[in-house]
Amino acid sequence: PKVAVLMGGPSAEREVSLSTGRECAAALRGEGFEVVEVDAGPDLPARLTEIQPDVVFNALHGRWGEDGCVQGLLEWLKIPYTHSGVLSSALAMDKERTKQVYRAAGLPVVDSVLAAKSDVQARHVMPPPYVVKPYNEGSSVGVYIVQEAANGPPHLNENMPDLLMVETYAPGRELTTTVMGDRALTVTDIVTDGWYDYHAKYAEGGSYHVVPADIPAEIFDACMDYALRAHQALGCRGLSRTDFRWDESRGLDGLILLETNTQPGMTPTSLSPEQAAKTGISFGQLCRWMVEDASC
Ligand code: DAL
Ligand code: MG
Repeated sequence: PKVAVLMGGPSAEREVSLSTGRECAAALRGEGFEVVEVDAGPDLPARLTEIQPDVVFNALHGRWGEDGCVQGLLEWLKIPYTHSGVLSSALAMDKERTKQVYRAAGLPVVDSVLAAKSDVQARHVMPPPYVVKPYNEGSSVGVYIVQEAANGPPHLNENMPDLLMVETYAPGRELTTTVMGDRALTVTDIVTDGWYDYHAKYAEGGSYHVVPADIPAEIFDACMDYALRAHQALGCRGLSRTDFRWDESRGLDGLILLETNTQPGMTPTSLSPEQAAKTGISFGQLCRWMVEDASC
């Protein structure tokens, strides 16, 4: 079968997506698929019509590629594609609506509000410590942490969007769990010396991963259970990865869900391929499974 790997695109996570796309394209060639790499631009509908792929492997991250837009195009063109469909992608990309779905499913989250950028810069819209972030970006692009009231409200970069999510700062360890179909793989404990920002995510040696995480069985099992329930509550398909914060001083009560990524990174430093490998699934096998699982 012929597989078109969509990558790049115009989002803030373009570089991450190019890395994901190249890795997956190479792996799929190794699995014997005919692969066409496509940098997703405004000519995407015409390119797909010309290429006539049997399956689209969606290696896009961020807006337009992870938020239901490209999924809608692929539905329209009737081309089976990997990962989640239109509604789940749109829901999961919106961190505020994701929380509404989590709450309805009984999954723990911290409080947050949506606020205008002008308000966020004028005053503390909630008592510090809190986090300000775009409600619809990934890879920690544009995330500000306000630790103390005395520091005043944050000075935001001018390309931050007009509507922002302001969330109670949840201290603790970064844990994450990948779901592959109907199965949670394992739990990774992400260790950084600061916080897990863009640099720590993608630079060589920016963080290290303890997998399986060396945490109490109760917390490990809760991550596995919550990740699967989050995947199902959002209606995800294929691969997803749910990120947690765990304040160990509070036991199970200190575990909260941050978000579910419907297009988890597949770069050389990424978490999901590493979790699959620890579970005995090679990168090639993972990519093959995703293509076989594709639908529209
Ligand atoms: N948003 C990045 C790609 C991730 O979640 O892995
Ligand atoms: Mg994300």
